[in-house]
Amino acid sequence: MNYRVPRTRKEIFETLIKGLQRLEYRGYDSAGVAIDGNNDDVKERHIQLVKKRGKVKALDEELYKQDSMDLKVEFETHFGIAHTRWATHGVPSAVNSHPQRSDKGNEFVVIHNGIITNYKDLRKFLESKGYEFESETDTETIAKLIKYVFDNRETEDITFSTLVERVIQQLEGAFALVFKSIHYPGEAVATRRGSPLLIGVRSKYKLSTEQIPILYRTCTLENVKNICKTRMKRLDSSACLHAVGDKAVEFFFASDASAIIEHTNRVIFLEDDDIAAAADGKLSIHRVKRSASDDPSRAIQTLQMELQQIMKGNFSAFMQKEIFEQPESVFNTMRGRVNFETNTVLLGGLKDHLKEIRRCRRLIVIGCGTSYHAAVATRQVLEELTELPVMVELASDFLDRNTPVFRDDVCFFISQSGETADTLLALRYCKDRGALTVGITNTVGSSISRETDCGVHINAGPEVGVASTKAYTSQFISLVMFGLMMSEDRISLQNRRQEIIRGLRSLPDLVKSILPLSQVRTREADSVLTSESAVLQMCILYNEMPCRHMSLKIKEITYMHSEGILAGELKHGPLALIDKQMPVIMVIMKDPCFAKCQNALQQVTARQGRPIILCSKDDTESSKFAYKTIELPHTVDCLQGILSVIPLQLLSFHLAVLRGYDVDFPRNLAKSVTVE
Ligand code: G6P
Repeated sequence: MNYRVPRTRKEIFETLIKGLQRLEYRGYDSAGVAIDGNNDDVKERHIQLVKKRGKVKALDEELYKQDSMDLKVEFETHFGIAHTRWATHGVPSAVNSHPQRSDKGNEFVVIHNGIITNYKDLRKFLESKGYEFESETDTETIAKLIKYVFDNRETEDITFSTLVERVIQQLEGAFALVFKSIHYPGEAVATRRGSPLLIGVRSKYKLSTEQIPILYRTCTLENVKNICKTRMKRLDSSACLHAVGDKAVEFFFASDASAIIEHTNRVIFLEDDDIAAAADGKLSIHRVKRSASDDPSRAIQTLQMELQQIMKGNFSAFMQKEIFEQPESVFNTMRGRVNFETNTVLLGGLKDHLKEIRRCRRLIVIGCGTSYHAAVATRQVLEELTELPVMVELASDFLDRNTPVFRDDVCFFISQSGETADTLLALRYCKDRGALTVGITNTVGSSISRETDCGVHINAGPEVGVASTKAYTSQFISLVMFGLMMSEDRISLQNRRQEIIRGLRSLPDLVKSILPLSQVRTREADSVLTSESAVLQMCILYNEMPCRHMSLKIKEITYMHSEGILAGELKHGPLALIDKQMPVIMVIMKDPCFAKCQNALQQVTARQGRPIILCSKDDTESSKFAYKTIELPHTVDCLQGILSVIPLQLLSFHLAVLRGYDVDFPRNLAKSVTVE
């Protein structure tokens, strides 16, 4: 929203649509906006809603078709909202997309990320009061509830943020919400619980403060029926952020910094239950209750993210760009942390907790999707270097099982986005049980990075492709670095540590060397695979995870079924699938399991299988049985998984392109799943 920065309606449209486009990578199935209608008098402005199933492009075209909208109209103060929806409650459709509205007159509109778990009870209550629902969404309940609170207000001068405060006290579940209303023209109120929300601030004038003090109010509200017993005092301007001298300032509310980074890199991350209100060029934040751990202010932080990092450049897809960025991202993960001269590793975010971590009885590593795979891929080396039992858990399963967690456990939460709801809930579960929590994320300011006791930022740079690639290799390296830091004093492990550190040193160059070669060889392999409907992959030990990782990538972006299995398991079932039609990809490295892999290879070829083999250059034994070979450089066993994963990432990428799919927007998937 802008204040004293005159913007035409066209500029407002463009800002909103561009913001949505920057978030397209997260996955969605419909989109919508709410902006002010054509009335010049601020008090008389109505809200125009435009919603569309499908791509943001379709919404953009629809906006320009609205005859009633004069694109040249200028607004000194304007607040527009826009949203992309990934369906949870109700099918993808215009009526189910956001903004959701309170009534046909659009008195209140709201956009929502998250899930309201008690929406059925609220809906029943509101229907009993005569409110008519038009969508199947949980979000519509919020729009109707705020109108109910407004209709039953005790005083005419009730503030917009008071209404929102009263609404969220009735909500259960997770939400990031932004409200707009014809009753409060030019005002914005936003709040969150469990889902991320940040506010970008742009002004060329000096700001009144860099720390917004939090306003607290105490009130006891039991339910919406007795809502009208407390009164919100007008916000004290000393507790607000504004441009000095009441100069022009713009505020951008967003769930993800990439939506606003081209406007500003100065942001405030909201905490759960913060209620932020922007009006008259001022931004204030208040909370209902003060808790002992509350920080009494929210600081404006400067993000390092650059716009070009979230642009495709010369690549045809973000996924491809991110695969090719791995020589740098792998290097950046280690930069300033691994000292190759002294063979030491220092992870600054963990150093103050190292003693405590060393005293623990067990490590639990928790994540979802690709992040979980990075944890499984490094379990063996973590056990070896830390000499601790390491449990690797899928966040949702971990919670479903009510897994016992103790005060002397150390729990790691691996998440590219730092916002995955299942992982976040697992984090809170472990915190409640007194365990030390460690975040491994790629997103500064994310919920997981803020809520954990300590952590490691993987520094892979923004990852936009839904199919995670460079974040996986950086997570992998971060966990290996943690193992190395833990084992610094273990005399018996010194040779092994040096071997791994040497391996890390040469890793960026090896990654660089395999990219061009793999690009060619994987294209050839893809032409073989493209017409097949299933890909069976096999691998063993350290190479198990590259195959599982690829199998996930294949499912995600090519919609083919694919399975990553251990070669030793082949004879116990999957062998029944082998014939000359079934594509098989094998990763065979010269490690202690080489002989076992050779057995598996023989079992496949004896049944007329035609394996595509990833193996080292000098492995003539394996390559003579290969239908196609992709050569891999050799590194220390526990890092080999990083090198073998890269051709497999390229293979799945080319396969998806050959099959004609949109690699960056796989159907039904979201980059960051902030719902349970
Ligand atoms: C979603 C994405 C996956 C991702 C998983 C975990 O399911 O589609 O690609 O691996 O979330 O995401 P995180 O941000 O926690 O690593």
